[in-house]
Amino acid sequence: MSSGWSANDHKSYSNPPSAAVKRARNDSGNKVTVVLGAQWGDEGKGKVVDLLATESDVVCRCQGGNNAGHTVVVDEKEYDFHLLPSGIISTKCTSFIGNGVVIHLPGLFEEIDKNEKKGLKGWEKRLVISDRAHIVFDFHQAVDGLQEVQRQAQEGQNIGTTKKGIGPTYSCKASRTGLRICDLMADFNEFSTRVKNLVQQYQSMYPALKVDVESELKKLKDYAERIRPLVRDGVYFMYDAIHGPPKKILVEGANAALLDIDFGTYPFVTSSNCTVGGVCTGLGIPPANIGDVYGVSKAYTTRVGIGAFPTEQLNAVGELLQTRGHEVGVTTGRKRRCGWLDLVILKYAHMINGFTAIALTKLDILDVLDEIKVGVAYKINGKRIPYFPANLEVLQKVEVEYETFPGWKTDTSAARKWNDLPPKAQNYIRFVENHIGVPIKWVGVGKSRECMIQMF
Ligand code: GDP
Ligand code: IMO
Ligand code: MG
Repeated sequence: MSSGWSANDHKSYSNPPSAAVKRARNDSGNKVTVVLGAQWGDEGKGKVVDLLATESDVVCRCQGGNNAGHTVVVDEKEYDFHLLPSGIISTKCTSFIGNGVVIHLPGLFEEIDKNEKKGLKGWEKRLVISDRAHIVFDFHQAVDGLQEVQRQAQEGQNIGTTKKGIGPTYSCKASRTGLRICDLMADFNEFSTRVKNLVQQYQSMYPALKVDVESELKKLKDYAERIRPLVRDGVYFMYDAIHGPPKKILVEGANAALLDIDFGTYPFVTSSNCTVGGVCTGLGIPPANIGDVYGVSKAYTTRVGIGAFPTEQLNAVGELLQTRGHEVGVTTGRKRRCGWLDLVILKYAHMINGFTAIALTKLDILDVLDEIKVGVAYKINGKRIPYFPANLEVLQKVEVEYETFPGWKTDTSAARKWNDLPPKAQNYIRFVENHIGVPIKWVGVGKSRECMIQMF
């Protein structure tokens, strides 16, 4: 019997590739620039995206949902975005919500209405939604709340989720019971049956769950018609953006490295990959098209919700950072916990994401401090540990080794270039940069667009 191999086969291997293959190899396409949170969220990603969006053609969200809250201040007007990419204010820019995002349609329209009142116009011509994105139902949000109550009752503490239905929706996605935007765009009867089946499953798990499924379906039918013109096959949309004429494409990360489902402080994390891998899977693009990856970090650290936080300051310093920094969650209105900058987590976030540069925000909040500390290593039983512990009990036990810097005690909010910063602030920034081994490209000294010192 023939093996299928022919003595002439080797010739085809040594043949040069066809012109079409060569062209394809040389044309890997446009690269995307990525903005990611390097701590526990709320680092100022929205502000960095807004800065870059003014010269971008496309801004994409690739993961998370309306658990995110991104603030953008333009012309003294403050906008907050949750599901909409922050690039939506830029009139030249198309905003894309990718397949990795979970979408609560009532939340999306509430956000649009709120921002329209602040002056947002023409969004419907600039917004594209992937047909593969999963839908967050109202009952997912109710289940999120019930699970929190259950955690509290069983374990004496909950996660402190945003109750936006994020965990339950990604769980449905993974267990293959979820419904997607493409399902909502197809036969509505089929869609309704699957929704009702899902509700039944949940009610068997949570007998206390009350769902008015008919009213939810009625609302969804209306939303379906409103979003229909915006829905596209996301893979083809991104392919065209990458392979068409030169374009600047920006990806707006939501949540952050330490909230990542794989690499964060599990289980006190969110339910998606907020690190760089989520960009490929959440948009359907090859890794070769990832260009610059900008990590965003505050000049100190904050965290909303429960979970280990080694450099947390439960004292006057923490209170000062909280009040001066207006550290209140954009999505839930909860006070953010505050502490010193932790370079162990920033190095860890860099190992995962490969940051090409860093935006260090909120330096101005440190202006009044006599001395400023920076966490540089973790110790257990007096010995430095050369890794970031996966186990939460271990992480809770670490002792932080700090470097102490003299405060600059000068108002930096009017600084617009490196030389405007006091030398002690420059020292602080250079120390952070050298320790992480990533250049700091921007330093934030205020909320608005112009309060961003660009270093190179
Ligand atoms: P995001 O979730 O990463 O987009 O960040 P949030 O918008 O949740 O939180 C960051 C907060 O800090 C917002 O209120 C911003 O307006 C504010 N902010 C960002 N950069 C700076 C800065 O450099 N200085 C000051 N004072 N505030 C800033
Ligand atoms: P941005 O994009 C801060 C936190 C929640 C909670 C945990 C799980 O604004 O930086 P979830 O609702 O996602 O199941 O909650 O994750 N969390 C955030 N904290 N900023 C965020 O987003 C966050 N997104 C989720 O507080 O502790
Ligand atoms: Mg936020």
